[in-house]
Amino acid sequence: TSSTLLSGKKVLITAGGTQEPLDPVRYLGNRSSGRMGYAIAQACQEAGAETILVSAPTDLPIPKGVKRISVMTAQEMHDVVLEEFPKMDVIVKAAAVADYRPKENASQKIKKQGTSLWVELVPNPDILAELGKIKSKQILVGFAAETENLIDYAQEKMRRKNVDMLVANDVTRQGSGFGSLTNIVSFLFPDGRRIDLPQMNKLEVARHLRDKIAELLGVTKED
Ligand code: PMT
Repeated sequence: TSSTLLSGKKVLITAGGTQEPLDPVRYLGNRSSGRMGYAIAQACQEAGAETILVSAPTDLPIPKGVKRISVMTAQEMHDVVLEEFPKMDVIVKAAAVADYRPKENASQKIKKQGTSLWVELVPNPDILAELGKIKSKQILVGFAAETENLIDYAQEKMRRKNVDMLVANDVTRQGSGFGSLTNIVSFLFPDGRRIDLPQMNKLEVARHLRDKIAELLGVTKED
């Protein structure tokens, strides 16, 4: 049954939007609420998986039975995920990770000055791409949040980041993407298969995703 579908499996999910500090009171962030990732953690825990949630700051409660490790920046998320990775069977990267961070994190609040303020940004590590390079037995699931050419860009990410499954998320549609209670996604697989899900709440999306992960692990639902 689905309550034992993933028993004995270790699953790590990243969630939320990283925050990249500019000074003691400001950061660069994004609109991720963490809901999608938290729902995936709940769905995997319900199926008996040992579930770790590596979470950027959110207001969401920790799903029952899930271990949460809180992080703030992309670099912190990177360090935790890389440390846990060898022990895991499945990694799902639902977090919205900042591709760039301010080069300097000022030790004092930046004062208002002149007519413009220049902030230099430097690249963050691409956690998913790194995992794609070092993975052995693990099932690696990535997301792609896109505002145009959804399927083309998502397919390109799937290949470049060497993932086993990619969740393509059109974040411009109503009821989809950042912050909403529902989502509209497609699942893409390296063999060319594609599944388009209709709009549904994020927990339902998460349960579909979990069942696909179980299939990739070679376990199937009996009920
Ligand atoms: O949190 P919610 O409000 O519920 O919203 C859900 C969501 C829209 C955040 C989620 O469904 C989603 O699409 N997450 C991925 C967002 C994203 O950053 O996508 P991306 O296309 O920029 O990144 C592609 C993949 O690489 C993602 O799996 C991302 O976690 C990963 N990545 C990106 C950059 C980076 N430096 N390291 C990464 O690991």
